[in-house]
Amino acid sequence: MSSAAGPATSIDASYYDTDKILRQAAATFFDHLSEMCEGILLVDSDARLVWINDRYERYLGTLGFESRDEVIGRPIEEVVPNTMMRSVVETGRPILIDVIENPTGAFVVSRIPLHDDEGRVIGAIGMILYDQIDSLKPILGRLSRLQTELAAARQQLARQRRTRYTLSNFVGNSAAALNVKSRARRAAVLNTTVLLVGETGTGKELVAQAIHAASARASRPFIAINVAAIPETLLEAEFFGVAPGAFTGADRRGRDGKLALADTGTLFLDEIADMPLALQAKLLRVLQEREFEPIGSNRMRPIDIRVIAATSVDLGQRVEEGRFRSDLYYRLNVLPIRLPPLRERRADLEALCEYLLEQLALEHEMLPKELDADALALLEAYDWPGNVRELRNVLERACSFWDGLRLTGDAVAAALPAGFDMSRQDDRPAAGPDRVTEPGKPLADDRLRPADDAGAHVEAHPLPLPEQLARLEREAIAAALRACGGNRAQAARRLGIARATLYQKLAAWPDLATDIGD
Ligand SMILES: Nc1ncnc2c1ncn2[C@@H]1O[C@H](COP(=O)(O)OP(=O)(O)OP(=O)(O)O)[C@@H](O)[C@H]1O
Ligand SMILES: [Mg+2]
Repeated sequence: MSSAAGPATSIDASYYDTDKILRQAAATFFDHLSEMCEGILLVDSDARLVWINDRYERYLGTLGFESRDEVIGRPIEEVVPNTMMRSVVETGRPILIDVIENPTGAFVVSRIPLHDDEGRVIGAIGMILYDQIDSLKPILGRLSRLQTELAAARQQLARQRRTRYTLSNFVGNSAAALNVKSRARRAAVLNTTVLLVGETGTGKELVAQAIHAASARASRPFIAINVAAIPETLLEAEFFGVAPGAFTGADRRGRDGKLALADTGTLFLDEIADMPLALQAKLLRVLQEREFEPIGSNRMRPIDIRVIAATSVDLGQRVEEGRFRSDLYYRLNVLPIRLPPLRERRADLEALCEYLLEQLALEHEMLPKELDADALALLEAYDWPGNVRELRNVLERACSFWDGLRLTGDAVAAALPAGFDMSRQDDRPAAGPDRVTEPGKPLADDRLRPADDAGAHVEAHPLPLPEQLARLEREAIAAALRACGGNRAQAARRLGIARATLYQKLAAWPDLATDIGD
């Protein structure tokens, strides 16, 4: 018998013990809490103050009361300004951590609802966890500044990764232009690799951005990498990124490459023909396997990107010369889009000029200028080796030194590269009535003159040699770019320097890069 009753009794006892232990634990916990906190108060289900602990009493003076009896029974808002206790009682939801500010100071507080056995809210407990918040102010201030900076940096990054152009920015209604737009639209929905082929300044970057913007990836990143502009030794790291601790002395935290940044979005590979053969093999692997390995990591990372590649040289010929892998070429050439040079779509010149003059007017906050018929005729006769970019530069130059609202043939002739149409050059006015001729300022027509009269400067106040050399270098580059209609590859060849070197130098002179329409 006793053996049958034994286990039953022991179950009851353990149940009782647990219950007792729980109650004991709650009481002890409450005592500790009461000691640890700066003050505790309790409200009932009507949010009336029913109890405060001894430590809370020291705040009563600053709250405008003399004794505990004065506050007990009052609605909580009458005692503590800005309190959220009523909301906790009404919603039954705790506010585990919060900062309350009222005329008595700023406090870190916690508010927890109290329930009866049926789960009804019978009141709430409010605890002041910390009342020395003023001593945290410098840290909080710094934190909030850092947060603001972080938010601004994130926004800027997101802006950079968004595209600026849509297909409506590709101006032109000639058959050639319409063909580009219709192929680009098809490419946008197909999610396949696209190869943009065209001379410098024909709008390859514009179309790449537009395809991304019209695709399902539009809200995802658009990451561009100019293969020609990055020295070969850095290209691989730029592409694949570096795993944390990959090299001694390298950034310990590692760095994401463009592939990782473009994940779920579009990777634009500009000047793909300049990619070294070793990297071509690696890129092919990425396109085939849809995974890559950051430098110094031994783990493959899956990746979901659409690749848009661009080239201004004939990739097929590069393949024949053994400078470009044929397997990569076929992989990229799934959907080629040829961007016609401007001279093949002269019918679009007028619309392009109108669009570009409007853009320039917006940028320079002036009224848009219009083109005279003879100005247009002159533009139509020119060959445009630098294509739309060069057209934009010529128009910008013409606007900069032509005061009137109509750009005449003379204005355009003066803005076109020297050497074009010699017959017209002779009758360029030295200073027509419309020219901007600020006293003491040379005519803008002398655009081939050194950027800032370095020669004159040298004689009057000799500059240190490195500075003089830098000026000369800048002039030489500016002149080469002008002579090549902004085509950097040609300019680099003309100067006898590597293309990457030219890009590096241009990075040091952003104004020069802008000048040629970057
Ligand atoms: N069809 C077009 N309509 C309007 N603007 C255009 C058009 N094509 C090009 N542009 C403008 O011309 C300039 C050069 O275009 P973009 O940079 O896209 O050329 P690109 O082919 O990438 O040249 P590059 O090979 O030199 O890098 C940009 O300012 C672009 O907005
Ligand atoms: Mg480009």
